[in-house]
Amino acid sequence: MAYVYQMPFLSKLNIDKYIRDILNCNILSTVKMTWIILPQMVARKKGIIINISSLSAMRPFPLIAVYSSTKASVDFFSQALDAEYSSHGIIVQSVLPSFVKSGLTTIFCDSFLTRAEAYARSALNTVGLTRKTTGCLSHSIQGCALKWFLPEWLHFSPAGMALQLFLTNLFMKKQK
Ligand SMILES: NC(=O)c1ccc[n+]([C@@H]2O[C@H](COP(=O)([O-])OP(=O)(O)OC[C@H]3O[C@@H](n4cnc5c(N)ncnc54)[C@H](OP(=O)(O)O)[C@@H]3O)[C@@H](O)[C@H]2O)c1
Repeated sequence: MAYVYQMPFLSKLNIDKYIRDILNCNILSTVKMTWIILPQMVARKKGIIINISSLSAMRPFPLIAVYSSTKASVDFFSQALDAEYSSHGIIVQSVLPSFVKSGLTTIFCDSFLTRAEAYARSALNTVGLTRKTTGCLSHSIQGCALKWFLPEWLHFSPAGMALQLFLTNLFMKKQK
């Protein structure tokens, strides 16, 4: 589950339901599903778990604070679990995509989105090679750009948040 629009924490509509849904979908389901399937994998001495985090877990993201923090949780959980169970023959991979065309990104222009099939194919090629991946080259470049060109002091400032909103609006489908 993601977010529809970027806005401060208290400005969200139905915030109580949003909080419950997003914590359940993004964190609780990931941890509980792992708890259900991992014992069988340990018994077989092999298994692959791929958890979908997000590029927004690379650092805390203002205006999508809840989403960003649930995705950081998925990333931390996956990496820690990989360390715990790699000696049992199990791979746990954390995938941090940027924007991919899906039901969650219908508000964005298609030209800005990576096709889901191409993204999945590229990300799957990294399984077994790395415990954490952005999944494809263009998303790695976006991750590097975020790290190198948007210093944390700017990212967390009002100007950084305004820039974040401006860039998001730039890539949104224009309302007719
Ligand atoms: N697409 C991106 O750009 C992007 C980027 C970074 C991370 N991700 C992550 O990738 C994962 C998969 O998303 P996707 O992009 O592949 O989109 P998707 O195909 O639309 O899948 C989203 C899924 O979440 C379910 N869902 C949404 N809100 C829910 C709710 N309140 N309660 C129960 N289920 C709910 C949807 O169920 P229904 O089909 O029943 O609606 C759907 O199965 C998500 O965790 C997302 O955060 C996506």
